[in-house]
Amino acid sequence: MEAQDKPPIITVDGPGGVGKGTVSRILAARLGWHLLDSGALYRLVGLSALKRGIALDDEAAVAGLAIRLDAEFTGNSGDNTVIMLDHVDVSDEIRTEGVGNAASRVAVLPAVRQALLERQRRFRLPPGLVADGRDMGTVVFPDARLKVFLRASREERAARRYKQLKDKGIDVSLDALLREIEERDLRDSSRRVAPMRPAEGAVIIDTTHMGIDEVVDGILRAWKERVA
Ligand code: DC
Repeated sequence: MEAQDKPPIITVDGPGGVGKGTVSRILAARLGWHLLDSGALYRLVGLSALKRGIALDDEAAVAGLAIRLDAEFTGNSGDNTVIMLDHVDVSDEIRTEGVGNAASRVAVLPAVRQALLERQRRFRLPPGLVADGRDMGTVVFPDARLKVFLRASREERAARRYKQLKDKGIDVSLDALLREIEERDLRDSSRRVAPMRPAEGAVIIDTTHMGIDEVVDGILRAWKERVA
């Protein structure tokens, strides 16, 4: 049960390509709450390691980066969040497949997850927080009042990602995307620390055949029932 004196939290967990990011952003805006895009933190750590030539499996060195991470999020729940790393705008760079892969690799390291734990918890500010990630409901905010886990078929998630990239003018093959999704799912859900899985009591929503608004409305309904 959520501590009554702390700001309320809705956690939105699930694999990449389920619409988590968009759903969380709209949800935060509709509620007037803060937003934590925890994947962006892992992406920043991955990018920082790549930029410095640090091996992605060097746990001590990467955890050191995570502890000292100089990151800034501005315009938090809007459409145009700017993400700065070492005072440089990396908003677009962190969304590439290469950085996503690096993020998934550094995310298996327990010391890195530990280093990011407190930083994530500091996003819990009044009037409330929507927390988007893989382990928001299970590890970071186990006392959240509403926990949501989004699913969608791999084919649908690859198709969504394909469209996103195409719209940005980036050329990729659907097959390669599908393979990467499979690889990342396996790594995210089989890691020893904080594997991706639905939290106990989570509301599970399969978004394969749902539009974004439908998903958001479903979560808002569940929230109203929870606080009624
Ligand atoms: O949601 P995303 O694609 O931006 O996340 C990138 C990677 O970061 C993902 O492959 C796994 C990792 N991650 C994590 O381990 N825990 C989180 N709470 C969020 C992301």
